[in-house]
This record gives sequence, C-alpha cells and structure tokens, in this order.
Amino acid sequence: MLAMLLAMRRILITGGAGKVATLLRTGLARPDLVLRLLDIREPAVLPGVDGSREEIMIGSVTDPDVLAEAMRDVDAVVHLGGQSRESDVRDVIESNMYGTYLLFEAARAAGVSRVVLASSNHAAGFHPRGEEPAPADLPGRPDTLYGWSKVAMEACGQLYADRFGMDVICLRIGLWFPTPPGLRGLALWLSPDDGVRLIEACLSVPSPGFRIVWGISRNTRRWFSLAEGEAIGYFPQDDAEVFAEALIAKHGEPDFAADPVLTRLGGQWCDVPLGVSY
Ligand SMILES: NC(=O)c1ccc[n+]([C@@H]2O[C@H](COP(=O)([O-])OP(=O)(O)OC[C@H]3O[C@@H](n4cnc5c(N)ncnc54)[C@H](O)[C@@H]3O)[C@@H](O)[C@H]2O)c1
Repeated sequence: MLAMLLAMRRILITGGAGKVATLLRTGLARPDLVLRLLDIREPAVLPGVDGSREEIMIGSVTDPDVLAEAMRDVDAVVHLGGQSRESDVRDVIESNMYGTYLLFEAARAAGVSRVVLASSNHAAGFHPRGEEPAPADLPGRPDTLYGWSKVAMEACGQLYADRFGMDVICLRIGLWFPTPPGLRGLALWLSPDDGVRLIEACLSVPSPGFRIVWGISRNTRRWFSLAEGEAIGYFPQDDAEVFAEALIAKHGEPDFAADPVLTRLGGQWCDVPLGVSY
C-alpha cells in the first residue's frame, strides 16, 4: 500500500489549515510525498513537519481560478475545506455545495481522477441508532443544513464518478479528534493514527469507483460498520474504549435507551437551531 501511495507524488488537501488537516500533515509527512495545502487562512507551522514537502496556497474553493491553479500536477485530492459546522444557509451552500461542485469540475478539467471527500455522520444524523452497526450507504437523513450539504456533496461525487469515471470516496467522518470528545466519542471516535490509515487506504486502493465509508476507529462501542472501510484496505487499530473509564467518570454512565444524544446517529446536532452558527 505504501509503495502505491508514494507513487502518488502530490496530494492537494483543501482546508489545509483546519483541525483534521493538521492531524494529517504530521501523519503524512514522509519522503516523496508533497502535500499542497489550500485554505483561506495560513496553516500553522508544525514541529517535526518538513516544510519543504508542503506547498501552501491561500485561496477559496469557491474560486474557480484558485482551484485550477491548485490542481496543477496533483495526483489526488483530499477535500476537507469549507464550513465544518452548522451555519447560515448561504454559507453552507456556497462553502460546501458550490465549493465542492467547483472542486470536482476543476479536478475533471485537470485530469485529476481521485477525490476523497470529507462527508460526515451528520449526513445521516436523524437515523436512529440501531442494535447493529449501521452500513455506510445509509440513505441521507441530515440533521442540520450542514448535514444536508454533506448529502449534496456526496451526490456531486456520485455524479462525477458516474459521468466521468472518477474515483470518489466519501468519508462519513465520526469524531476525528486527538481523543474522543464526550460519551458519543466512545462510538464515533476516529483517532489521528487511524485517520492517516484511512486516508492512505483511500489514496492507494486500485480503482474504487464511488464509495461511502464510515470514518471511525475500531471502537468497541461503535455504531457504524467497518466492512466498507475494510473493503478498501482500511483496518483501524485504535479503540476509544481506552478512554471509557475517564469519560464515564466525567460524564456519567451513558444511557443508550433514553438519552436523545445517544439514540440518534447525529446526537445533539439533531436539536441545534437550523442555520445558526454555534
Ligand atoms: N473533525 C471532525 O470530527 C469531523 C467530523 C465530520 C466531518 N468533518 C469534516 O471534515 C472536514 C475538516 O474538518 P475540521 O474539523 O478540520 O474543520 P475545520 O473547520 O477545522 O477545517 C476546515 C478548514 O476549511 C477552511 N475553509 C473554510 N472555507 C473555505 C473555503 N471557502 N476555501 C478553502 N478553505 C476553506 C477553514 O479555514 C478551515 O481551516 C470538514 O469538511 C468537516 O465538515 C470533520
């Protein structure tokens, strides 16, 4: 897998200054791999990351000229940039839906045939949590305008896969953080190391076509299936359970029967006011 990844010399990461990209930059800092980081703001300088293996571009995914330049000599795209929380409807449409359309169009025009798309558990947030881990191709059932934009982004990826034969992997990310935030994190956590494993798998698997995959670790209490990830060579190794004792001591025993945060896939996002940043 690593050999195939290294053969891909330059990866465009949109949202290159964001939290997830910052976790990825450390994990993907390796010889013969150049990361082109596109963001509307400057990424932080990271200790231990060789700056000569990174190219910084300041600009927006809503600007076709920026995207045309960003795609030059790129082998694959990891699309993280845009609005990552609930927000005003115009912002959500512009940053996420329009930005993603422009990104696919720029990739197609430049002959970049692989896009890894940051979708979210919130694309399916209103599905009730079942007894069995949910499959990754659950129909869209968004919990917010943000979640709606993720459903639309996935659909745009499907369009470009069907029309133009592009390889598009949509990651319905759980909670990609250094450690699991809160009790929901026991089910949804994606560890930094597993996140790198997931992106490596997405960049390496031969001819995946269009896929939807949950972005979670091998959590004992997971709500989501790992099968679709394993099918592309993603074998997570971390488990949020190692944080369970401390989290339960802090937040109390999880009540999976009655706590609405724990009975719907999107948790508390099912109740936030629509279109309001928080
Ligand atoms: N972190 C998680 O647990 C999680 C969970 C589900 C989905 N996601 C998705 O993963 C992606 C990354 O999430 P994150 O936590 O790093 O969010 P983040 O907000 O830290 O990063 C997003 C980055 O996108 C940049 N950005 C915003 N608008 C832009 C534009 N028009 N053009 C270029 N860049 C723009 C921001 O400046 C920011 O640096 C997002 O798409 C988010 O929706 C993250």
